[in-house]
Amino acid sequence: MGHGQSDMTPQQAAAALAWLAEMGADEIVGEMAIDRFEAVAVVPIPLPQRTPGPAVESIAPARREMGSGLHLPSGQARRWDDGIGRTAAECHTLEDITAALSVFEACPLKKTATNLCFADGNPAAHVMLIGEAPGREEDIAGKPFVGRSGQLLDRMLAAIGLSRAALEPEKSVFITNTIFWRPPGNRDPTEAETAMCLPFLLRAIEIQQPKFIMCVGKIPSQRLLATTVGILKLRGRWREFNVGGRNIALLPTLHPAYLLRRPADKRYAWHDLLMLRQALDAH
Ligand code: URA
Repeated sequence: MGHGQSDMTPQQAAAALAWLAEMGADEIVGEMAIDRFEAVAVVPIPLPQRTPGPAVESIAPARREMGSGLHLPSGQARRWDDGIGRTAAECHTLEDITAALSVFEACPLKKTATNLCFADGNPAAHVMLIGEAPGREEDIAGKPFVGRSGQLLDRMLAAIGLSRAALEPEKSVFITNTIFWRPPGNRDPTEAETAMCLPFLLRAIEIQQPKFIMCVGKIPSQRLLATTVGILKLRGRWREFNVGGRNIALLPTLHPAYLLRRPADKRYAWHDLLMLRQALDAH
């Protein structure tokens, strides 16, 4: 799909303007608009092949890969491998994952959370967004990214023609998190907590089969890429993420909550959004 101004609905154009205003573009400096979609040179990425049908065993290699970066006590990791990995592998649909998480008692966060907060958006979307953890509003609503940072995220997505409410797979997103219950007081999730949820997240990726993954913030980027490198270094570069024998293009970017605190850094997020837009257009 080409992405020019003529492709935008009035709502998307308004969202793009609101996003630009939030980035600090508060005056017009030229008669002619510059097409920034063309101005950014983004190296095309090799597109992943779709492999039909979820293979239950296929989670194991990806999980071993992940595990190497998690630094868990080995006994603990092995217990999770056995029980949680098997439970996740037995899920064949996203509804199965919701059902499995609803009765999943191993994660202590479940005891302090109000609701399970697994996913939102279009399960057929070409783009999967992975955030960090539900906050207060998400805990109440049982849906990811509905609070202030979620509203900013929606405006950012709208600025490149994407929406979680869109029915067309190429215009929509599927949104989930690294963990599915709110950590008390909005603290960062621990490695142990994300490790417990990881098999379900990987299974969700296998089932949803996105063409592109955008990791929103430090936690999902570091956990999925099994690295401790900071998000400002990780962002803005496509990586290959292997899950279930498939390579998926994964792009780390900045978290909207960070952007609300550091509006000057929205230009980096805008660059990353353009990379995603360009990859979708080239697909
Ligand atoms: N921040 C996240 O990373 N995820 C949410 O669901 C809400 C806020």
